[in-house]
Amino acid sequence: MTPETPAIGAAAPDLTGRRVLVTGVTSGLGTATAELFARAGAEVLLAGRNRDKLAQVRQQMRRDLGPALGDRELRAIVVDLADLSSVRHAAAEVSGLGPLDVLVNNAGVMALGPERTVDGFDVQMGTNHFGPFALTGLLLPALVSSGDARVVTIASQAHRLAREAPLEDPRVPVVRHRPWRVYSASKLANLLFTAELDRRAREAGLPLRATAAHPGWTATGLMSGSRHGSGGGIGSILVGAFGLLGQSPEEGAAATVMAATADLPGGAYVGPSGPLEMRGLPHVVGGSRLARDAWAADRLWQLSEEATGVTYP
Ligand SMILES: NC(=O)c1ccc[n+]([C@@H]2O[C@H](COP(=O)([O-])OP(=O)(O)OC[C@H]3O[C@@H](n4cnc5c(N)ncnc54)[C@H](OP(=O)(O)O)[C@@H]3O)[C@@H](O)[C@H]2O)c1
Repeated sequence: MTPETPAIGAAAPDLTGRRVLVTGVTSGLGTATAELFARAGAEVLLAGRNRDKLAQVRQQMRRDLGPALGDRELRAIVVDLADLSSVRHAAAEVSGLGPLDVLVNNAGVMALGPERTVDGFDVQMGTNHFGPFALTGLLLPALVSSGDARVVTIASQAHRLAREAPLEDPRVPVVRHRPWRVYSASKLANLLFTAELDRRAREAGLPLRATAAHPGWTATGLMSGSRHGSGGGIGSILVGAFGLLGQSPEEGAAATVMAATADLPGGAYVGPSGPLEMRGLPHVVGGSRLARDAWAADRLWQLSEEATGVTYP
């Protein structure tokens, strides 16, 4: 991408002729992100796990964008990040389209479990980290062929709650499952992945920058989708709080757009500039000490290659 100067809250530059893939477009931040990119002129690939929901989002976006969409197609890509065979299938389809300028690893789940993915991973680690790790690796040739690619992965302030990096074998169930702890660890994994991908790309001289973003508190389906979002207790309080205090999905997605298009150094992390990074225009933020642990980032990378069977070229 040809980057623009990173002002706080910078709008997307003209992205005409650029191809962008956003995962998790069927709800919340993903829908808003896809629409912001489409409004900026990009060819947007709408990725989601549910074919019917994808068709609805596509229709809605066509209506919202109207004539501004021109002859751009809004192609739907079916991908279940909790199923590596689906990830492989989707990556092959996307690679067949030609160069990919931006990949946004946005899809995620929160505080679920102890269910396992099709491949036997914890559902949160599988959906939030291992699926995106595999998808990014399989799309690397398409990204590199764009000549100036960006991979943006959506993390969370929740990464700060992680007590250690998730370096245990994801296929071995833990004795006592703690949904919030796993969510925090998966979001820490997003930042470790970003740092390591960027480091490896630089070392190999690849034309690719990896960045991360978080949307602060944004009112979406994430909290209600968690099993703590219903049935009273702290989860219901949090759902109410997100609904009342949260930014709109469009405001939350501004951090993603900045991480994807502003002239930032690789490894940059973007989030809201307001108090506690809960809301506000996006700017560059910092991660926790654990998120800067280069040894853990490398170890997680090796573990992810082993677990997914996807080895980066
Ligand atoms: N909202 C916040 O305040 C907040 C704060 C920090 C970080 N985040 C992060 O922001 C990202 C987006 O979350 P959101 O708030 O927009 O939540 P959301 O409204 O629940 O949207 C999540 C999206 O992920 C998709 N998804 C879930 N599992 C999937 C799978 N196995 N394969 C493919 N897609 C899958 C969902 O698809 P379906 O529609 O099919 O369920 C949906 O499109 C997540 O990574 C989350 O951790 C959000």
